[in-house]
Parts: sequence; C-alpha cells; structure tokens
Amino acid sequence: MCGIVGYIGPRSCTSIIVEGLRKLEYRGYDSAGIAVVDVSPGAQAKGEQAKLHVVRAVGKLGKLDDVLREKPVPGTVGVGHTRWATHGRPTEANAHPHLVGDVAVVHNGILENHVELRRELLAKGRKFLSETDTEIAAHLIDIALQTESSLLVATQRALAQVRGAFAIVVVSRREPDVIIAARNFSPLVLGVGEGENFAASDVPALLAHTRDFIFLEDGDVAELRAEKITIMHAGQKVERPSKRVDWSPTQAEKQGYKHFMLKEIFEQPTAIENTLRGRVILETADIEEGEVGVTAALAKSTRRVILLACGTSHHAAIAGRNWIESIAKVPAQVELASEFRYRDAIVDEHDLIVAVSQSGETADTLAAVKDAKRRGAKILAVVNVVGSAIPRVADGAFYTHAGPEIGVASTKCFTAQLAALLMLAVYLGRRRGTLTEERSLSLLQHLCEIPSAMREVLEEAGTCQKVARRQLVATDARDCLFLGRGLSFPIALEGALKLKEISYVHAEGYAAGEMKHGPIALIDAQMPVIVVAPNDSHYEKIASNAQEVRAREGRIIAIVPKGDHTIAQIAQEVIHVPDVDPELTPFVTVVPLQLLSYYAADLKGTDVDQPRNLAKTVTVE
Ligand code: F6R
Repeated sequence: MCGIVGYIGPRSCTSIIVEGLRKLEYRGYDSAGIAVVDVSPGAQAKGEQAKLHVVRAVGKLGKLDDVLREKPVPGTVGVGHTRWATHGRPTEANAHPHLVGDVAVVHNGILENHVELRRELLAKGRKFLSETDTEIAAHLIDIALQTESSLLVATQRALAQVRGAFAIVVVSRREPDVIIAARNFSPLVLGVGEGENFAASDVPALLAHTRDFIFLEDGDVAELRAEKITIMHAGQKVERPSKRVDWSPTQAEKQGYKHFMLKEIFEQPTAIENTLRGRVILETADIEEGEVGVTAALAKSTRRVILLACGTSHHAAIAGRNWIESIAKVPAQVELASEFRYRDAIVDEHDLIVAVSQSGETADTLAAVKDAKRRGAKILAVVNVVGSAIPRVADGAFYTHAGPEIGVASTKCFTAQLAALLMLAVYLGRRRGTLTEERSLSLLQHLCEIPSAMREVLEEAGTCQKVARRQLVATDARDCLFLGRGLSFPIALEGALKLKEISYVHAEGYAAGEMKHGPIALIDAQMPVIVVAPNDSHYEKIASNAQEVRAREGRIIAIVPKGDHTIAQIAQEVIHVPDVDPELTPFVTVVPLQLLSYYAADLKGTDVDQPRNLAKTVTVE
C-alpha cells in the first residue's frame, strides 16, 4: 500500500524523504511525489511567505529521483509519498501530494464518504484536479484554514468530517515550521530525533536516522516541530511515550544478496533463534509465562481457539491449528479473516482468537479481530511488527521477532510464525496438563535444533536453482501442482502461493488426498508436481499419490527426507531435507519451496522483491 515519509528539522529534506521512501518500496506503488516547504533565509522577518514545491512522477521512485536531481528543490520541511492506486489510475495528476491553496496533503487509506464529500465540495464551487479521495481532504483542510489560525486545528476540523481508514500528513506554506500527521486505522509512526522529527508509514524508512518511535493511536493528530511533538486525541492533548526499536539499519539493507527475498530466506535460522530466545525453557520443559501473551488462567479456561489470518499467515495458522489440537488437545479452527468477518460466525467469551499477521496491520484481520472482541472473545496477536494495530486491540501479543521483512513475499516471518504457534501449543498443553513433560521436552529440544536443520536445507540452494531452471523455466511451465498431507498441506499451499506471486506461474496447493477428486485431470507430461513428503505418518499415503501422478506421466519434484528411495525412484528431481521430529517438518520442507520460487522468478527476470500488483501491508479490504 502507499508509503509516507515526512521530515522537519535543520537538514535539506529531499534526500531524507526519497531515501526513506526507498525503504518503503516493498509496500508496492505506481507513482511517487514530494512536497517541500521552502523558506528563503530571513523571509519570515521580511514578512515574505514561504514557497511550497510539489514534484510528482508516475512509475518507480527512480523517476521522481531523476526529476529532483535535474531540478533540486530546497527546503528542510517536507513530505513524500509512494502511491498504490485505489481511487483513480496511476497518473501524475492522481499522484500525491495534492496541493490545494496553501496546503499539500499525502494520504494512505480510503476515505469512505468521499462520494458525498466530493458532491458537497463541488456544490460549493471547489474544483478538483484528480480522481483521488485525498484531494477531498486537502480541500477540507484548506476550507478550515480560512477560519482556523493553526494547521493543527484546521486538520482536526477537516478530519472530523471524513470516515474511513487513513494516515495523513500535511504541510502548509502558511505555517512553514510544522508538519501535521494523523492516523486512523492506517499505519503511521513518528520518529523522534535530536532537533528533528519524522513521520513514516513504517519503521524501516527511518532507521537510518533514529531508533526512537512513537506509535500513534487511531484518532491521533500530531503536530511535529523540529524540537517538539504535540499529540491531540478527541480534542485533548495526550502523551504517547516513545519506544526504542531494536532493529538495526543494516537489517533493512540487502547486505550483498541479490534480493531482499533471498537474504530473508537465508536469515530464517537466525530469525527462529530470535523467536525462541528467552521463551523456551528446557530445564522445565516449558515456555516462559509472560512471553506468549496468554495468561495461565486464560490458557486453562479457553474452550476453543480460532486462528484468523490472510495469505501466507493463513498457511502458518493452518499448521498452528494442527499443533494446538495435536499437542494441546484444545479444539481449534482456522479461518480466512476476510471471510470470517462477513459471515455470522459463532464467537463468545470462551473463545481465544489468535490473529496471525506479520505486519499487524492487515485490514481484514484487524476488522475480524475487533468484531470478535466486541462479542467477548479474548484476542492474542501473533505479529512481527511491534506497535502495529492488531496487537494494540488485542489482549496479549506474541511478537515473532523475525526482524524487518522487506521482500513482499513473506519467508522468514512465515517460519517465525510457525515457531511462535508451536510454542503456543506447547504452552497451552503444559498449562492444561494435556502435554506430558517428557513429550514437551522432546518437542522443545527438537525445536531448538531446527535452526541448524534449516541451515542444512539452505546448503541445497544450488540444487533448488538447478531444479527451478530445468523443471520450471526451461520447460516454460505454466501450471504447477503442490501436494502435501497433514502438516505438509499448508506447506503445499504456501509453496504454490510463493510461486504464483513472484514468478507469475499459475500454481495450486492441494491436500494430496483431494487430488483424485478433481485436479488429477490436469496431470500430463507437461505438469510439474511438487510432492512434499517428509518422514511422518502420512509418508506412505503420499507415496501412493506420487505413484498416481507418475502413472499419468506427471513430472515429480520430490521434497523427501535423506535416505528416501520410494518416491525418489519415480521422481524427475529430488531435493533432500533433514529428518526431523514429525511435528516439525514444516520448518524444513518450506525452505526448498521458497528457494524454487525465488530461483524460478529470478531466472525469469521478474521483480522478485516487488511483484506486480502486490503490496506488503494490505491496509484496504
Ligand atoms: C505473501 C504474503 C501475504 C501476506 C498477507 C497477510 O507472501 O506475504 O499473503 O501473508 O497479505 O499479511 P500479514 O501477515 O501482514 O497479515
């Protein structure tokens, strides 16, 4: 979705803003722009008004950068934006900032009552230059400024008239020493510097300048000056203490890898070590209380767990559902948040909702969680981004600590979610007495060995690249089938999603037992079929499914444990994974699938880190 960066301080702001926007490129966008307030030295003393420069360009950020290099704009106060089109095509006129009178506005989100507001404004004789809902906000602020003396109060008055989800940042030549930043259900953080302050859609945009962040609440309107931040909420001044973020700026760099996605695939062992750190206590065969966001009392009283998520996080949630039932023996179900929120699901105070989201901002998951909360359920957020919206409405948070994930296709956040959900299952099982100390110890010991098992799989990267070239790229595969059973079913779904989103090859993930109920009709000599068959209780069954594929001349790419001969014998390609505890196989089987997709996309030359049409943080429905 859109990216916002604002700066106020003593430094020239364009490069700070453009570099910040570059760190937000992963959010997806189709145009970019910047507004800079330019106060010439001594101008205010002479009673001269500041200038407001607006520069916009369609396409990648490089286009805006080129224009700014050719014609630099001076100024130390400004705001920039990368736009992911919702209202109106990606044209220069629709690109942000939108300038009305003395005011320039950037916006992420959707103003729901834009139709009626536009009609009212047109009736008042207002002229629109774009098709965007954002321009409406700029008009409303401009109108309010005719009677209000400060940009802060004018923005508050304007925003009181709009409904919807938004993060808005405003600058004005009338008040050249302030930036206004407002948040309502769309992400916006403030970076606190020394003699300078920042606003941005996400933390990585500002890590080069500060590690101290204020996470705005919905309904907050902040006035940023170089030396001071004032925050208003419902007309009252409020204090929002800053939090120190322990992500380093280099974590948000490629560090020699060709793409962020590849770097993040290779970071998975470390990410999981960070997820486990301080939580797994081998001495007591338990998970540290206070580290998972669920009290012992709630763990005991919960009658049912409902896991809510979208996309990749939904796949982690399916594995989580299986673990919560098999390890903790608590009835559990998993739901797509986008469906759950619109059906009359039965939810009550005996339910524990586990919202799984790397960004913590996904609009559907957030809305589903709020609805379940209203109906009395307790909410646990399993989230990577500290201070994001979902943990703020939840009763407890279980942060995955995977570090910043920049590639749009989620990899390390997925495996960190798996680790968190497995720990949650162990925690629930131990509190409820349904998991023995002996089994718990064995699970946790094996879980601690998972990072090194993943490192072993990563050594197979060269094999994955060759297989991707031979079976997916050289053959120009248009369709692929991914099969798995049990815990390998969500991994098959995830493998198919990864391939689709970054290489644009159509792929389906299927529970292997379902193959004969339909998809088997697709199989012929052109069809690569990825069979995920680790050493678990489903192995023989999926080996039979592989035979059925082979009998129809399907080309099998087998993900099998070392020492497997049965499936390897009939497969065109074999990628080995280490033999791990049957409950932990997803951690090792997903890695070759991530690598296959990555190499297929890279060999095809697609935009791996920013696949077309996709956004990292999906803050609209
Ligand atoms: C795919 C991917 C998406 C997200 C989905 C939910 O690689 O990353 O499918 O998983 O948009 O996002 P979060 O996890 O932020 O709620």
